Amino acid sequence: MGKSIAIDGPAGAGKSTIAKMVAKELGFIYVDTGAMYRAMALYLIRRGISRDDTAGIEKACEDADISIAYEDGQQVVLLMGENVNGLIRTEEVGNMASASSVNGKVREKLVSLQQKLAAEKDVVMDGRDIGTVVLPDSKCKIYLTASSKVRAKRRYDELKEKRIDCDIDQIEADIIERDERDMTRENSPLRQAEDAVLVDSSDMTIDEVKLAILDEAKRKL
Ligand code: DC
Repeated sequence: MGKSIAIDGPAGAGKSTIAKMVAKELGFIYVDTGAMYRAMALYLIRRGISRDDTAGIEKACEDADISIAYEDGQQVVLLMGENVNGLIRTEEVGNMASASSVNGKVREKLVSLQQKLAAEKDVVMDGRDIGTVVLPDSKCKIYLTASSKVRAKRRYDELKEKRIDCDIDQIEADIIERDERDMTRENSPLRQAEDAVLVDSSDMTIDEVKLAILDEAKRKL
């Protein structure tokens, strides 16, 4: 096992932004596990499999070939060998990822891929179940959250920046619905591990959050 920092938390808490910065600072590999669930979701959407079709999802899970590569230090998700990084950041894919990730077979497959990566390298890994299920022995666990208002505002600003038309109340409603599903599912629900440190970024700058996590890493690793 390499060294690891496990970061969990709800959608839009800033996990990936922070995890990338921390990984760069420490020379660790950043592993975005949400991107793997999103690649799986893209596969389901392409095959026209609905979120309620458990048998269809499980069959697709056997067929889908998902792997991870690194190009210039950036994580690239490959679906059947195709780089799908540019296709998985839509709300449609995110919602399908949240819905299909309740499936035990989907989780088993992706968790095993994640554990393999962490066995070989020093990693900063973010997701929903990293501290609780994927890397339960990690010495440095962070639970990163922020209020749903703040998370919706950040997402709104991001979309505005890309000149995508959106409604902030709708974004907040979607975020709340997604969290509810991620936190109440039977299989590896999102929750703070007992030994995780809580960081609420609602009133913190990105730099403050980064420093808080680097501090924690220095003490624990
Ligand atoms: O972090 P994200 O928004 O890219 O994740 C998309 C969905 O994937 C999220 O709503 C739930 C699921 N997911 C998961 O179940 N477990 C993880 N470790 C990461 C993501």
